[in-house]
Amino acid sequence: MSRRKIVAGNWKMNLDRAKAKELTAAVAARVAEAGATELVLCPPATYLETVGATIAATKSAVALGGQNMHDKASGAFTGEVAPAMLLDLGCRYVILGHSERRTLFGETDAIVNAKTKAALAAGLIPIVCVGETLEERESGRTSDVVATQVRGSLAGLPPADLEKTVVAYEPVWAIGTGKVATPQQAQEVHALIRGLLGTLASPAVADKVRIQYGGSVKPDNAADLAIQPDIDGALVGGASLKADDFLGIAKAFGG
Ligand code: PGA
Repeated sequence: MSRRKIVAGNWKMNLDRAKAKELTAAVAARVAEAGATELVLCPPATYLETVGATIAATKSAVALGGQNMHDKASGAFTGEVAPAMLLDLGCRYVILGHSERRTLFGETDAIVNAKTKAALAAGLIPIVCVGETLEERESGRTSDVVATQVRGSLAGLPPADLEKTVVAYEPVWAIGTGKVATPQQAQEVHALIRGLLGTLASPAVADKVRIQYGGSVKPDNAADLAIQPDIDGALVGGASLKADDFLGIAKAFGG
């Protein structure tokens, strides 16, 4: 099964409007460097419109994604963004259950599951994040923790929705630390996730699901990750804020 590789830039709470525009234009102008790899930019919600308009003006095939959303369609939820609002701004993807959302904002698997279902119902493709902490890894609980997150976050999805969903394996100890998982450590968990998806749906469905690795991905470590059979792309934080680095990673997956 050949899965289209997907490299997404999670800008987190960084940049301003002018810099967001500049970075988008730089990436869009060089999209060919990514080859067949799909590129996604996930700016802060306040800049989605600017980034979307910049992509549209260049007519390049870069996709737009949100970093979070609420699971309800509308209502009295001060400060929140609804699925249809992301869609309205041209988003194709939305990152859900990022470890910063789970740790700093109390998102549980049940919350991530509700958001995942709402995203799919609205026509967005969720990028659902899972990953263990250092303490969990060191105490030998990686498989259990990741399996629980995958089961909980993706519970009740019909196979047709599951196969569209992107899963991002992001070991918490590797996020923003410069400590990337070895390609073998990453591949091992990716294979475990795919196996689990096979039991949740079917091996054929699991074979279609794209599983990204995230956590200190840089141009110089991307190639070794990209050759692993179950690593289908990257969710990139810090390195996505520089066009050269982001495209360097995309190139490693696209070559
Ligand atoms: P990082 O972040 O690439 O800066 O480690 C990854 C992420 O949080 O998605």
